[in-house]
Amino acid sequence: MRLPSVAAAVVATLLVSAAVTLPAAAQAKKGAAASAAPAERPASSAATAAASGNAVYAERFGSLCAACHGANGRSDMAGTPVLAGQHSLYVITQLYLLREGRRDNAAMVAVAKTMTDADLRGFSAFIGTLPPVPAAPAAEAPDAARMNKGQALAQQHKCVFCHGTALDGGQGVARIGGQKEDYLRAVLHGYKTGDRPGYTRAMSEALSQVPVEDLDPLAYYVANFNSK
Ligand code: HEC
Ligand code: HEC
Repeated sequence: MRLPSVAAAVVATLLVSAAVTLPAAAQAKKGAAASAAPAERPASSAATAAASGNAVYAERFGSLCAACHGANGRSDMAGTPVLAGQHSLYVITQLYLLREGRRDNAAMVAVAKTMTDADLRGFSAFIGTLPPVPAAPAAEAPDAARMNKGQALAQQHKCVFCHGTALDGGQGVARIGGQKEDYLRAVLHGYKTGDRPGYTRAMSEALSQVPVEDLDPLAYYVANFNSK
């Protein structure tokens, strides 16, 4: 069975990287241990940063990221993904790929290149606290026939196997329901051609059996998933 073993590999890889996303409390503990044993580590800026952690990154998000992504994590800017409701473990893997230039988007790579490891943790922890923001209701309800087709494709191609029947993901698996259609289309074609390498091989393997002509119908369905 191919899929379960892929899923296991995904989890194994992501568990390794989970060590990167130390919660603020764990960092504060590390800091305290460090000051108790100064030979190992001087009372470091890490402890101080953890203490003010989320507030600092909330402010930096507001001044730096909100211009494109929106103050609440959803903007109308073309090609710019919704971050609201996204999982911090998924976010940190993507900021890492962007910083290394493995995800290729000039604007976002430029932003990510300025980030330290602490920034990757801080921004992803903050984004993980943003509640999901559904799309504003469209003037017209989504086309029922296209939604039915998309739903059948999402089942047939096992999208729900990893992203969940609510398409809300979890851990290293992205929340995709209600993501923007233009962005989803670009992403799915990017995974299919290999232009967008994933953090793991999960998506390129998931799409390897999916015909190219099914990608846009999937994007339509996933984007409109939360709307009535
Ligand atoms: C100039 C506009 C711009 C700014 C400023 C910006 N971003 Fe982005 N961001 C983008 C675009 C465009 C993408 C989509 C990249 C792609 O298509 O691969 C993106 C993608 C992302 C992603 C990946 C989302 C996903 O679903 O995979 C994350 C996470 C992210 N940005 C976080 C941030 C953070 C944190 C900041 C502030 C430090 C920030 N961005 C600032 C435009 C911007
Ligand atoms: C084996 C598990 C698995 C399956 C099956 C799967 N995905 Fe994913 N998907 C993932 C993981 C893990 C990620 C995070 C990508 C990475 O590792 O960089 C992801 C990422 C995505 C993204 C990127 C989200 C963003 O914000 O950029 C989209 C879109 C997506 N998947 C759609 C789909 C669709 C549509 C299907 C069905 C054709 C599908 N996935 C099947 C695991 C899976």
